[in-house]
Amino acid sequence: MSEWIKVGLESDLTENVCVFDFKGKPVAVFNLEDGFYAIDNICSHEEASLAEGEIEDGKIECPLHGAMFDIRTGKNLSLPAVLPVKSYPVKIEDGNIYLKTED
Ligand code: FES
Repeated sequence: MSEWIKVGLESDLTENVCVFDFKGKPVAVFNLEDGFYAIDNICSHEEASLAEGEIEDGKIECPLHGAMFDIRTGKNLSLPAVLPVKSYPVKIEDGNIYLKTED
């Protein structure tokens, strides 16, 4: 059964992105112009923190080898990444950030 888990505060998101611990995994939460989005912070190619990459037009560029991912879906958009990163539903309630677990 899926459930919403609180990972942090909306006020933690002072930049466009902040990394939170979600069930023991680092997840990057992004504040885009149309809402909040969450994806696994570790690149699907190697061990790099996507939150340290450049955000451009709803995409994040991995800081290590430059693979692009769609922030809204986690889809890999360019090499060398050949796999997506996981994305999670986000909700904000009373200033708290919640991510949804899988069913
Ligand atoms: S670690 Fe991200 S593209 Fe290589």
